[in-house]
Order: sequence, then structure tokens, then C-alpha cells
Amino acid sequence: MLPLLLLLVVVPLLHLSEGAHTDQIPRGCKPPLDWFPFCNASLPLDERLDDIISRLTLQEKPYLLVARESPKGNISRLGIPEFDWGGNCMHGVQSRCAPDGRCPTSFPNPNSLGPTFNRTIWKTMGTAIGLELRALWLQNVGENHDDRNLPHMGLDCWSPNLNIVRDPRWGRNLETPSEDPFLVGVFGTLYTLGLQNNSQVDDRYFQAVATLKHLDANSLEGPHWTPDGKWDKKHGNITRYSVNAKISMHDWAASYLAAFRQAVVEGGAAGIMCSYNRINGVPACAHEYLLQRVVRQQWKFRGYVTSDSHALEKIVTTHHYAKDWPETVQLALQAGCDIESAAWTKGNMFATGGHYIDEVPSAVQSGLIDEELVDRALRNALGVRFRLGLFDPIEDQPFWNIPPSTVQQPDHVKLAKEATAQGLVLLKNDNKIVPIDPTKYSIALIGPHLYDNITMAGNYLGQLCPKDNPSCVTTFHAGFVEAVSKYQGKGLGAAKGCSVNGNDKTGFAEAIDVAKKADVVIYVGGNNLHMEAEFIDRPDIRLPAIQVELLQEIAKVNDKIVTVLLHGGMIGLDAIVNQAAAVISAGYPGRYAGEILPDVLFGKNARAWGKLAITWYHDSIQEDLNMLDFSMSRPPGRTYRYFQGTPQYPFGHGLNPLTSFDLSKLVVHKGKGKQTLALQTNVTNTGSRPGSEIVMAFFSPPSTLSKRQPASKLRKQLFGFERVHLQPTVSRTVAFEISPTVFQLYDSDGLQVLFPGKYSVTVTNGVDAEEQISILIDKQHNLKVLHGPDESATQ
Ligand SMILES: *[C@@H]1O[C@H](CO)[C@@H](O)[C@H](O)[C@H]1NC(C)=O
Ligand SMILES: *[C@@H]1O[C@H](CO)[C@@H](O)[C@H](O)[C@H]1NC(C)=O
Ligand SMILES: *[C@@H]1O[C@H](CO)[C@@H](O)[C@H](O)[C@H]1NC(C)=O
Ligand SMILES: *[C@@H]1O[C@H](CO)[C@@H](O)[C@H](O)[C@H]1NC(C)=O
Ligand SMILES: *[C@@H]1O[C@H](CO)[C@@H](O)[C@H](O)[C@H]1NC(C)=O
Ligand SMILES: *[C@@H]1O[C@H](CO)[C@@H](O)[C@H](O)[C@H]1NC(C)=O
Ligand SMILES: *[C@@H]1O[C@H](CO)[C@@H](O)[C@H](O)[C@H]1NC(C)=O
Repeated sequence: MLPLLLLLVVVPLLHLSEGAHTDQIPRGCKPPLDWFPFCNASLPLDERLDDIISRLTLQEKPYLLVARESPKGNISRLGIPEFDWGGNCMHGVQSRCAPDGRCPTSFPNPNSLGPTFNRTIWKTMGTAIGLELRALWLQNVGENHDDRNLPHMGLDCWSPNLNIVRDPRWGRNLETPSEDPFLVGVFGTLYTLGLQNNSQVDDRYFQAVATLKHLDANSLEGPHWTPDGKWDKKHGNITRYSVNAKISMHDWAASYLAAFRQAVVEGGAAGIMCSYNRINGVPACAHEYLLQRVVRQQWKFRGYVTSDSHALEKIVTTHHYAKDWPETVQLALQAGCDIESAAWTKGNMFATGGHYIDEVPSAVQSGLIDEELVDRALRNALGVRFRLGLFDPIEDQPFWNIPPSTVQQPDHVKLAKEATAQGLVLLKNDNKIVPIDPTKYSIALIGPHLYDNITMAGNYLGQLCPKDNPSCVTTFHAGFVEAVSKYQGKGLGAAKGCSVNGNDKTGFAEAIDVAKKADVVIYVGGNNLHMEAEFIDRPDIRLPAIQVELLQEIAKVNDKIVTVLLHGGMIGLDAIVNQAAAVISAGYPGRYAGEILPDVLFGKNARAWGKLAITWYHDSIQEDLNMLDFSMSRPPGRTYRYFQGTPQYPFGHGLNPLTSFDLSKLVVHKGKGKQTLALQTNVTNTGSRPGSEIVMAFFSPPSTLSKRQPASKLRKQLFGFERVHLQPTVSRTVAFEISPTVFQLYDSDGLQVLFPGKYSVTVTNGVDAEEQISILIDKQHNLKVLHGPDESATQ
């Protein structure tokens, strides 16, 4: 409420939020350098941009086009301040804590947010992150990096990551919510709307700017892939810096671009990052077709494009696509890479040079680059800074009145905790061992993550606790100790047993002893960020051998093992799934997971549990999929959309141990728009406790679709989902609006087409309730509902 109230009164400068030292905030047009026409907020943005660009010398221009150069990215002569492009905000602001000791709220990682299927969480998290970024920025807080000599943090975020989970081995699977482009697109759209928040209150200004990354098809890190897609530590050297993603026009549009398109078209994202890799031979940051034809012309994108950090260098050094720096700079500017994120050296990340700075003036003078291209880039980049309000008077700007208390405010922390609970996925639950009643069962808490205070929080972290020491994070062990005591449980023993990796079995005996004495074992293990991370793919998706062995030993003495796994990509479970009574996919569940997990496992959180937003394959998938093959449909096929095998757990799977749900037969009504239908089902909580259910709607293309069409390989496609919370015996109607556009597929040129034919539509909870209907689309694009095997038309 506070910001809205403040809008109603005139806020004098002096009354700006306590703690905000506005004189130190880097903004333009401060007296005496406030007389330029570009400072006149009554002029149209285009005129202001023309004016500021006309005042820059050729030497000065590239300083405004280089990220990781700040605080040098300033032109003090004109009062243009530094701007630190490229903070990160993937699941919280990646900054230091504020001077008052408030640290940015850290939410679960996106691979734990996807499984919530909760739009409110995604959008509210975006809003919260944007607000906190503004509040931290107003307090002169810097990014959270080793380098102590940091500039003031910027207001654009190099987030979200909208690359789909193409392969379980990709090191950055934790950064993205799903393998499904539609779900990733909805997530990206809502995150962007929340973060940028430029429509609700004051459409003149962005709260913050989202930068969708990595365009495009960044879904391999390296460092040891061979040309035939195998991992070879000795000879394999293919990485994200050298890989050429060969993608058909169909797969590109349908799978690799779709989520970005949605976040630009529906979310209004104002930033895009081009990736390291090549796409069909052309490095993404030199890809004119991608950055101009697709992004600017087809999607009508009007923000800025940045390169990934030092991606321009890779155009020469690893892609051998350009012969030298001048040619690289020319290709990048021509393609539409407005900002170069420069290389950085450890410990001094903001001090290295950028090729734009080194090459642009001479390349323009020699005629290699048209100065118009430089001005086009300036217009895009500066346009974003203007739309952040950085060249306008601040008195009437809503985002200049954000108090320090916004950071880590109680409702943000509450949201982070709720997201953690809603993102846990129960894969199996023999004999309904979960929920565990701690008063009935004594517990042995075992596993390498027991005393973890950081892995659960994932990557791209801001400081979690003041003084950059994770002592404020509740470990799983501390969380269980507290919960067992709170509920006056029967008992709790604990032993780590082993590390995440390695061969040290000295802890086995103690763990087995603890397991022997308890009624139930709760095992908290899985991966860590040394196994899967940026620049580290995971060649072997199986649970590390040491953990498999420990679990097998424990299973000999206790058959009630509840296995909780931290992970980015899925973990191959074939070796342990039969020994575990219950298995929980936890993703990287966030820094509050130590507090939340016990309550969820004990059945105390009625809003808990999510569903898989990825396919959980068997171990053998890593032999069957070629890491370098970007085709989605080449057998066995990737993701639930194309995979022809039987997964261990399918996309959408996830049990609710608290209650049960049923879906009524689908009913079709006329929709709100012309040519639309409303597909409805009643979800009923048929159990005796409150609980949350996720209902998903998929369609499958007509079986009559010509096999020449690549879309005929699509098995099914998610097009709607709803999360509902229901008291026992209560029903709620869930409706999916369907129009011909829902069924649009892509042809072999990557163009959207509506193929006539009979589409099968399935509404399901992913587990045990499923309803189907057939919809006929005729050549005039009319929708007609067909029921049952006799296909008698009802409408
Ligand atoms: C700002 O621009 C408006 C619109 O063109 C103009 O009327 C006004 O005089 C300008 N203000 C200043 C201080 O130049
Ligand atoms: C940027 O700011 C620094 C520090 O105030 C100053 O030394 C430098 O000259 C400025 N650069 C430009 C191009 O104005
Ligand atoms: C946008 O920001 C304003 C001001 O901080 C806030 O009150 C509002 O709730 C936000 N709206 C959305 C939709 O995020
Ligand atoms: C990888 O190794 C091959 C063979 O030694 C070599 O030709 C190629 O240049 C290397 N590629 C990179 C990106 O280092
Ligand atoms: C956090 O965990 C690490 C690794 O287990 C441990 O070394 C460190 O002491 C812990 N820090 C705190 C403050 O608990
Ligand atoms: C859902 O239940 C309500 C109340 O019983 C009923 O009126 C409605 O027709 C049902 N809708 C569907 C789609 O079954
Ligand atoms: C979605 O998340 C919000 C925020 O945590 C929560 O209030 C809401 O109940 C959730 N929706 C459902 C249906 O669980």
C-alpha cells in the first residue's frame, strides 16, 4: 500500500525513503547538467534519444554500449552516469545485503518453481524481486561478487533463463522451470510482468528490466563433449563456446524460440541476451536473421540486446566465424547486439576492456561500420535507461519511493517459503509412508545434505545472510530437530553417512546404526553445484555411486526410506527406486527448505506439493540421447512432447499424500470470444483433508496429419493448467478457453499453421484422473466437439 499512498502526496526530495542517498544514485540530468533537451521529460522519448545521441562523440559512444565496464560506462561531460548492466535476479536479487542488514529475499530456483504450476507465485515473485532491486539500488548496494570494488548495481536483470530443459545432462537445468516451451513461456511472461511492472501503476516507467536469456538454444555447457555427442574427458572439447546447434526451422520455432516469443509478445520483456553458441552455423550474437527478422520484426521487440559475457570474443576464438575484432564488432552491431558484455577477470571483473570500445571508432572511421548502426544500438540501450526513469525528475516517480524495509519484507519471505512447499514433487509413496507422523515414528535423518546451508539455495545467489556467512540459513538437520521437538516426536537420530560424491565410506557404519534404530529413514541427498552448474554438464545422470551404495546398505536394515533429492536435471533412479518407499524431487528448493521440508513431510502444510515439469527418464536415456543433437523428435525423442519411450515418471506426475482428487466429465460451453469454446471440468477433493491439485490440459495433433509435417511427430502439447486448493468434499470448476490459436502448430518453415483435422484433448491431474474429448477443426477453422467413439457431433 505504501507506494500508492505516497503517490497521492507530493513527496519532497528530503522525504525520500530513509537510507536512500539520492545524491549517490547514478542518474542523469542533475543540476547543473539538466538543461539539455534530452532532460526534458515532456518531450517524446524518440526526440530525447535523438538529442542525447547527437551530443555524443564517436569516441564516447561505445562506452555506453559495454556491460561489465561500469563505472566507466559514464559520460560525465553530459551528466550521463554509470550504469551497471547485468545484475542477476533469477530467483532473488543477486546483490549484497543492505546496510541495515536486510538481505535480498532468495526464492527457490526456477526448477523448483516450475513444479508449483502456480501463476501467482511466478508473477508475485517477479514483482517482489523488482521492488527489492529498486530498494537495494536506492541504498547503493552492489552486486554479490568476489570483487570488492563494485559499482552501484544496475536496474536491469539478466534473468529469466528461458531455455528449455532439452537434456537432463545440461548443467543449467536448475535455472529454468521446465522442458515445456509453453510452461516456460508462461513463467517468463509472468516473471517479466511482475519484475518490470510498467503497466499497473505508472506506464511511463519500468520498475526493473527483464533480460531473457539465452537466445537461443543455449542448452549445452561442456567442457568435454565430442562431435558425436559423447563425453570424453581426454579428447572432448566441445563447449557452449564452440557448439553449433543445428536446428530445423520447425524445432527452432516450436521448441527453442516459443517461450522467448511469448515473454516478449505477452510479457513485454525489454531485454534479450544472445547466447555463446552458434545456431545453424551463425553465432547467436552475430545472427542477423534471429535478432532482426525474428526478434524485432516478427515479435516487435523494442528493448535492448546484450551479448552473454565475452560472447563476442568467442566469435573469433572458438567459432572462427570472424577473422578479427573489427569484423566481429561489425557483425555483432549489424546483427543487432546492442550491448557487448565484456570479458572479465577474476577479482577485477569490472576493469577489463570491451571490443566495442577498442574497435568502434576506428571501424567507423575506416568505413567498416556505418555510424547509423552504432546509433541504433545506442537508441535501444539508452531507451531502456530512459524508461527506467533515470533521466527524469524523481519527485513523481513511483519507484523512487521504495523504502529499505521492502527488502526481505515478511510477505516476500512468506512467498519464498510457500513456493518451496508447493514445488516439492512426490514421485512415489509406497504404503502412504508420507505424511510421516513424527509422534508415531522415530526418524533417522541421513544423507550428504543434512548440514547443508547453501546447496539448497542454488546458484546466482545474493548474500543470504549479513556478513556473507550462511549462518542464518536453517540446515535440514536443524529444521528437523526443531520440528520433531515442536510436535513432540518420538525421536530423531542423524548421521550424514557420506558426501555427495567420492568413495569415503567411513560414515556408513554410523548411518546404518542410526537407520537400524529408527522406524523411518529420511534421506536428504542428490546432487550439488559442483556436479551440475554453469559450464559443467553432468555426463552421468545417475545418483552418485557412493549414495547408491549407502542407500542400499540402509535398505538392508530399514525398509521405510523416504528419499529427498536435490538436483538440477533429473537423477537416474533405477538403482535405488525399489529400495525407497518414497522419493521426492526437490530441485534446488531454496534457502528456506530446511524449515519447510519437515512440515511438508509431516503433513502439516496443506498447500504443499507440485508436479513434474520435466520428464523423469530411466538411467538409459543418457546412452540414447546424443548431447549434440538438437533435434527434438529424432528417436527416442526429447521431452514428453516427443519422447517415444516409457519414462520412469512422466511430465505432470506428482502425488498428493494428503488427500485425493477426482475430475468430472468434460463439458463444453460456448467461449467468450468468437470461435472459442470453454472446456470445463469439476475438480473434487474426494479425501478427508484439504489439499492442492494441479490440472493440466494437453492436445494431440490429428493422426491424419501428413508424416511429411514435422509437427506430426508431436505426441502432445500442454496448453493450459490450473492449480486449485480445495477443502474436503469441495468441488471447483476449472475452465480452459480454447480457440483455434491454441491448436496452432508449426510447418517445416517454422511458420504457424492451423492444420484441419481431429485433435484429441486431454485434461488430467497427471496421476489417476484423466478426461478426454475430440475436437474437429475444419478448413474454415471452425471448432466442433466430437464425443466418444461414435464421434457424433454435439455442436
Ligand atoms: C520541454 O518540452 C516542452 C514540449 O516541447 C516545451 O513546451 C518546454 O518548453 C520544454 N521545457 C524546457 C525547460 O525547455
Ligand atoms: C567516468 O567517471 C569517472 C569517475 O568519476 C571519471 O574519472 C571519468 O572521466 C568518467 N568518464 C567519462 C567518459 O566521462
Ligand atoms: C507494481 O508496483 C507498484 C509500486 O511498487 C505496486 O504497488 C504494485 O503492486 C505492483 N503491481 C504489480 C502488478 O506488480
Ligand atoms: C577441439 O579439438 C580439435 C582436435 O584436436 C581441434 O581441431 C579443435 O580446434 C578444438 N576445438 C576447440 C574449440 O578447442
Ligand atoms: C555451512 O556449511 C559448510 C559446509 O558444510 C560448513 O563448513 C560451514 O561451517 C557451515 N556454515 C555455517 C555458518 O553453518
Ligand atoms: C460442476 O458442478 C456444478 C455444481 O454441482 C454443476 O452445476 C456444473 O454443471 C458442474 N460442471 C461440470 C463441468 O461438470
Ligand atoms: C499459489 O501460491 C500462492 C502464494 O503462495 C498461494 O496463496 C495460493 O494458495 C497458491 N494457489 C494454490 C491453488 O495453491
